[in-house]
Amino acid sequence: METPIVKLSNKDLDTVYEPSEDSFLLIDALEADLETFKSQKSQLCLEIGSGSGIVITALAAALKKYNGAYFCAIDLNPNACKVTKETSIANSTNIDVIQMDLTNNIYARGIFDIILFNPPYVVTESLEVLDERLISKTWAGGKEGREVMERLFENIPKLLSDNGYFYLVVIKENDPEYIIQIFKDLDMKGEVVMDRKVRGEHLHILRFKKTGQN
Ligand SMILES: C[S@@+](CC[C@H](N)C(=O)[O-])C[C@H]1O[C@@H](n2cnc3c(N)ncnc32)[C@H](O)[C@@H]1O
Repeated sequence: METPIVKLSNKDLDTVYEPSEDSFLLIDALEADLETFKSQKSQLCLEIGSGSGIVITALAAALKKYNGAYFCAIDLNPNACKVTKETSIANSTNIDVIQMDLTNNIYARGIFDIILFNPPYVVTESLEVLDERLISKTWAGGKEGREVMERLFENIPKLLSDNGYFYLVVIKENDPEYIIQIFKDLDMKGEVVMDRKVRGEHLHILRFKKTGQN
């Protein structure tokens, strides 16, 4: 998968997450599963918290000529939405971008074949999650770094198609095994598909699918 061109001005960088090792590890994990996406004809792809749009654009660029797929990105930060759209256009992909808190306004069921989330995962005081500054929203994860991501979890089995995959970026402090257990209780099985130690962070990519699917 090619790394998309991303142009972030100094003003963008005040509020929008600059692609980093976690973004690149998620792209690597998607690249490793590309043949599966092609053979399963994955068609509806959603990224939550798209930031610069680098991840969903990489996926869209890789899949667009295969499955006639549809790509959608969500971020609560309007500036991130703007940059995601610009990244999509600069890389000749077509991505619908929606400003929204997680997936709170999506009522469709069982439709997404691929869902991605590289959430704010840094362990912080709970109060920091409430900080209005948009740049804090890129990293502040609250207690055990799970306060934002945990609000999404119960929606995932509702949104995912029967053969769909959910990819989540976490760090060791978020307790990946505990997260896998939460999804087990939601009838989903999860595994660590990639991990990397970078500058004091032990990044993990978790991949989930509905129990009972191949
Ligand atoms: C770690 S950054 C990841 C950005 C990008 N996906 C990447 O991998 O480079 C987390 C992103 O999630 C967004 N975000 C945080 N809380 C959110 C929420 N409640 N709803 C939607 N997006 C959120 C942030 O604005 C930020 O763009």
